[in-house]
Amino acid sequence: MKMKKVTALLLASLTALAMTACGGTPTAGDNAGGADNSSAESSSEEGSSSEEESSSEENSSPEDNDSSEGNDGSAEGEGAEASGEAEGSEAGTSADGFTTAVEGKLTMATNAAFPPYEYVEGGQIAGIDAEIAAAVAGKLGLELQIDDMEFDSIIAAVNSGKAHIGAAGMTVTEDRLQNVDFTDPYTTATQVIIVQEGSEIAGADDLSGKKIGVQLGTTGDIYASDVEGATIEQYNKGMDAVQALANGIIDAVIIDNEPAKQFVDKAEGLKILDEEFVIEEYAIAIAKGNEELLDDVNKALDAIIADGTVKGIIDKYITAE
Ligand code: ARG
Repeated sequence: MKMKKVTALLLASLTALAMTACGGTPTAGDNAGGADNSSAESSSEEGSSSEEESSSEENSSPEDNDSSEGNDGSAEGEGAEASGEAEGSEAGTSADGFTTAVEGKLTMATNAAFPPYEYVEGGQIAGIDAEIAAAVAGKLGLELQIDDMEFDSIIAAVNSGKAHIGAAGMTVTEDRLQNVDFTDPYTTATQVIIVQEGSEIAGADDLSGKKIGVQLGTTGDIYASDVEGATIEQYNKGMDAVQALANGIIDAVIIDNEPAKQFVDKAEGLKILDEEFVIEEYAIAIAKGNEELLDDVNKALDAIIADGTVKGIIDKYITAE
């Protein structure tokens, strides 16, 4: 398996990469970055209806959003204008003494089809990221509002001010860092390969020339695009890729390890290969240059990491083997 671009992608995965014998130079602007940039329209069309609350209330109109495409759609009322104010408005102070540049609500963009990090349960968005974000919001004295959208719309939503933060099991990559800032990482994950039980594919090296399914715009998508001669099938949801694999439409899926376990449990006749070929770090995305909000969220996040809250949340959803 050739993974020439991988070196550019991961901040924390150098050790894991030793095995991939990666050669070439990093290429800026491959699919993650590209998808992120171009997806503003699709995010606004979604009318993500979960928890719409016409929250355009008191915000003074932000005119300095940097992704103009994202703006028109955001009249739909899901905290659309909420984040432009981060620069201009009065900061608040929470009971814990944390200050924020945001008032009232902290809006989070996610793709709630990625258990155990985010998924819909009983009409609500549950999962590790939802709980961590709620804890961050709590520290900042804010109420969390979650907007569900396609994964590859999240960075555009954050940059356009449609959401304050993006929390979606999102891996910190060099490409994404061109478009968005990330908080400190709150956990690590790995990319794994799912195959049919009887498959001849035993590791990344066997993927050449195969049909690989991925969730659109994810790091799995990027790794797949580096596999020689492979055909990439991009799905909007990871589970759709896994279902296609179970149906024999594709030969393998590259996806994050924890969702992989859950998806494989729901399908028939699939297994996860032992090889974890990349280690990644998940962090929260914040509009580029919004230092104030980044600092606030980092302080809150660091506090809930330090006091064990984050570990408690993760342990609740992921049982150690
Ligand atoms: N960690 C991978 C990435 O950052 C996949 C994340 C997918 N998350 C989701 N909520 N669907 O690309």
